[in-house]
Amino acid sequence: MTGTAVTGTAVPGTRMRLISVSLLAGVALTVAGCSRLDMQDQPKYKPQRPSDFFADGRDGRPELDGTIARGQLNEDVAFYDGKDAAGKDIDAFPIAVDKAVIERGHQRYDIYCAPCHGRLGNGMGMIVQRGFKQPPSYHIERLRNAPVGHFYDVITNGYGAMLNYSQQIQVRDRWAIVAYIRVLQYSENASLNDLPLEARAKLPPANQAMSGEMKAAMGAEPMAAPDKDFMNFPAQPATPAGVPGAMGAGAATTYNAQPEKK
Ligand code: HEC
Repeated sequence: MTGTAVTGTAVPGTRMRLISVSLLAGVALTVAGCSRLDMQDQPKYKPQRPSDFFADGRDGRPELDGTIARGQLNEDVAFYDGKDAAGKDIDAFPIAVDKAVIERGHQRYDIYCAPCHGRLGNGMGMIVQRGFKQPPSYHIERLRNAPVGHFYDVITNGYGAMLNYSQQIQVRDRWAIVAYIRVLQYSENASLNDLPLEARAKLPPANQAMSGEMKAAMGAEPMAAPDKDFMNFPAQPATPAGVPGAMGAGAATTYNAQPEKK
């Protein structure tokens, strides 16, 4: 009977230990669970949520009079608005323009503007060739004489059928694009006198094809290769046939086979 007695006391003992272990584990889990909830469900307001704490029922607080949020002190009117003190478009760049700025502008221009305005700024971008309203060429008299602030204003606020690009393009990049537009304008209107004498001597005589040597003298930078995807559109559509929205390979072999725009 001693054996039984031993077993009799031992079994409840083991059970107790088991129970307390699982209790402890449970407590530990609950504690862990709680702290996780604390981190995930913090007692804080999320933007634009209702509040029963503030009298106006909103969790957002209006700015105090005479204060400006950190990083929003856009004090430099020329830089941020492209205007002078009288509110007129400025005609001098508010940033120093160097080669790096122009190259940055070139890159941003080709991304954001060239689809409509064309890489040369003549208003014959690919979207225009497919029916979008044609913008004016940057090389017309009026736009050649327009102050830099006007171009900045068009990018920032839009112009007629053109939407603004203030969300996509940062202020400094807008000025870089304007600098590049000035380069485009200059490239179409440079005079022979703008070239140094030794460069003039290397130019081919009028109406004569350039020799290889002359071409080399014109500069080592090769012309950008035409965009093959665009050239082949829609014979090789980016979206394969059968995908909703695809024009479908062979649906039309050239763009001109599309119905004429009235
Ligand atoms: C989706 C096509 C499209 C894109 C992209 C576009 N534009 Fe335009 N842009 C237009 C059209 C269309 C007009 C003419 C609007 C009108 O007269 O109603 C225009 C007009 C202009 C003008 C002439 C304003 C004037 O005084 O006549 C300037 C300058 C200009 N855009 C600059 C830019 C720059 C810089 C970018 C790139 C940041 C850009 N555009 C991107 C379509 C575009």
